[in-house]
Amino acid sequence: MKKLEEYVRSIPDFPEEGIVFRDVTTVLQNKDSLKMSIDQMQALLDGVDFDVIVGPESRGFIFGVPIAYNLNKAFVPVRKKGKLPCETIEMEYALEYGTATIEMHKDAIQPGQKVAIVDDLIATGGTIEAITKLVESLGGEVVKIIFLMELQGLKGREKLKGYDVDAVIQYEGN
Ligand code: PRP
Ligand code: MG
Repeated sequence: MKKLEEYVRSIPDFPEEGIVFRDVTTVLQNKDSLKMSIDQMQALLDGVDFDVIVGPESRGFIFGVPIAYNLNKAFVPVRKKGKLPCETIEMEYALEYGTATIEMHKDAIQPGQKVAIVDDLIATGGTIEAITKLVESLGGEVVKIIFLMELQGLKGREKLKGYDVDAVIQYEGN
């Protein structure tokens, strides 16, 4: 059987020259690699004591919800600004060009809850750093952060010092 990383499609020079885009759609559109990706990410949470998974729109939802369901945990969505209907807290973070803002409902995390953060990919780490701040400002404790893929060359882990970070697939470059 093919290995999981062989299902990731790599597209050179997208969205701009010099960037190799790691396309997760080819992992999702095959039943074997879809299962492997969920199972292997979930295995990174073995032995971790937590209450809730927090995942960012949109690719974080794809992996966060099935893992939460399998482990009988709750799921809290982090959304791009303007989508959540009730009272929110928000955090701005840097993109390659400009900034973006993400939001969570204020009542989504209870003080003292243990949180695992799930996303498909860590690049600069900006998205997840912002989520750690949101979770902590609500009194949650981030006990684990997991990804399907890590682009080591962008040094995202340096933004997440002090956290327990794991990824299934490692890429040396960006
Ligand atoms: C991508 C990816 C991660 C994030 C990683 O999401 O799914 O969430 O970027 O980048 P970072 O480590 O530099 O923050 P994107 O914001 O493109 O949105 P999407 O998930 O809705 O496609
Ligand atoms: Mg994303």
